[in-house]
Amino acid sequence: MTQALPEVPVPAPQITVTPSAVIARLRAAGCVFAEEEAELILSSARSAAEAAGMVERRAAGLPLEHVLGWAEFCGRRMVVEPGVFVPRRRTEFLVERAAHLCPPTNRTPIVIDLCCGSGALGVALAEARGRIDLHAADLDPVAVRCARHNVGAVGGQVYQGDLFRPLPATLRGRVDILLANVPYVPSAEVALLPAEARVHEPRLALDGGADGLDVLRRVAAEAPAWLAPDGHLLFETGEHQVRVAVAIVADAGLVPTVARCAERYATVVTGTRPARRGLSLPGVDAAAAG
Ligand SMILES: C[S@@+](CC[C@H](N)C(=O)[O-])C[C@H]1O[C@@H](n2cnc3c(N)ncnc32)[C@H](O)[C@@H]1O
Repeated sequence: MTQALPEVPVPAPQITVTPSAVIARLRAAGCVFAEEEAELILSSARSAAEAAGMVERRAAGLPLEHVLGWAEFCGRRMVVEPGVFVPRRRTEFLVERAAHLCPPTNRTPIVIDLCCGSGALGVALAEARGRIDLHAADLDPVAVRCARHNVGAVGGQVYQGDLFRPLPATLRGRVDILLANVPYVPSAEVALLPAEARVHEPRLALDGGADGLDVLRRVAAEAPAWLAPDGHLLFETGEHQVRVAVAIVADAGLVPTVARCAERYATVVTGTRPARRGLSLPGVDAAAAG
């Protein structure tokens, strides 16, 4: 289910559109990086009226990326409409891990980007890795619309529905990389998030249930049936959630590893489907063979 986001009132433009006036307006509205934001707005707007409207939307609290209509991720501009989750820079670490784990280039790796939001992760992996067979899915129609734009540009497919449900069954047992940056904020902590997330991103994109790991539990339970032998599930988690997240992955029959990037405050857990005979998972090898 998707949730309606609150309407953001857009006051009539009140400013003269000079760089100094824009900086002053943004600073007065509490934007810490007023100079940088002013430059981005002024270089993105196609007219003075459009710039003035963008400044007022930003001053009213809309995330900068929603005002601009794009977010930078792994050096590429991803389309982000208001109401879609803005890809975080720390998540670039997850993409780097995935690029590192992608199998060698003698065949096209199959990649699923589950809970894809704008589709930024799969697109960035396609850019980093070269040719991939990319399939992205999300439940939220706004996310799916953005993802169709971004993922379509690198030749991928986008589906709408609950987790794995909309994906083609032909992918079962064949997936090399399963990206799953699922919601992982504990329900009680959603209210503590900055307003840009709490007010302007859908709760569906943030709320991971009581301990933040409910969506992950569902993904991990189904992941072995979709992964190829030696395929990898990758997801981000909070540092305080790592112990439980690792146990969830291991209980699903995947081999967990944890990687951290201190600079970006990012923690990525990988669950790898064992390839060795004798470690096959119930119901998985049959799917892979079919
Ligand atoms: C934290 S956001 C991440 C989006 C994107 N992967 C990224 O990192 O920019 C989580 C996404 O999961 C989607 N989502 C939540 N529950 C879902 C479900 N049951 N099935 C499919 N998508 C879901 C939300 O709509 C949201 O786009």
